[in-house]
Amino acid sequence: MKAVIFDLDGVITDTAEYHFQAWGSLAAALSIPFDREFNEQLKGISRTESLDKILARGNLSDKFSEEGKQELATRKNTEYQRLISAVTPSDILPGIKALLTELREARIGIALASASKNATFILERLELAYYFDSVVDVTAIRHGKPDPEIFLTGAANLGVQPAECIGIEDAQAGIQAIKGAGMFAVGVGTPSQMQGADIVVATTAELSLSMLESHFIRG
Ligand code: BG6
Ligand code: MG
Repeated sequence: MKAVIFDLDGVITDTAEYHFQAWGSLAAALSIPFDREFNEQLKGISRTESLDKILARGNLSDKFSEEGKQELATRKNTEYQRLISAVTPSDILPGIKALLTELREARIGIALASASKNATFILERLELAYYFDSVVDVTAIRHGKPDPEIFLTGAANLGVQPAECIGIEDAQAGIQAIKGAGMFAVGVGTPSQMQGADIVVATTAELSLSMLESHFIRG
């Protein structure tokens, strides 16, 4: 195992909850039903794709022009940015800082493969930017998760083969992307939400270098 490629939202910090809340406010304003089960489909996918799914759920896809959709996406992001402005290092999920420290000491590559345009801001708020050898530039990614492109780019940026990498994700679309890249997939969540993962942990507190090394099988 030469590298670990992390998702951000829901793996490094619980900003997945803030995405849920911000979309929930927008859905409520549009009288579109919104719940945690539906929200699972939005994890890992881009802002515009998330909005399209929400509008389709409310049969409102044709009611908004491209400009109108852009305005709705901006409204959601403004609310999301209000929520993440208060993020501090105390919001790092359990076990993550210790894992990053162990990986650095073992000289194992560390990359971030997040679909979020707010990822760099959040890493800085968490004071974790230092640990990452590469943060994949999502604006240069043509195909979002579940396409493997973002994980393959992370491996290429680190100069390692995909088969030498572990990917860690909390989204079904993310697990698909990791497996599509030919990497070992670690899911954070429940097995039903993490289909196709090589191993699933209930919380990040279970993650450590020795735990990952004991399960890792070259892809
Ligand atoms: C992913 C989240 O990390 O980033 C998604 O799982 C989110 O829920 C996506 O939609 C895009 O984030 P942003 O911050 O660019 O709107
Ligand atoms: Mg996530």
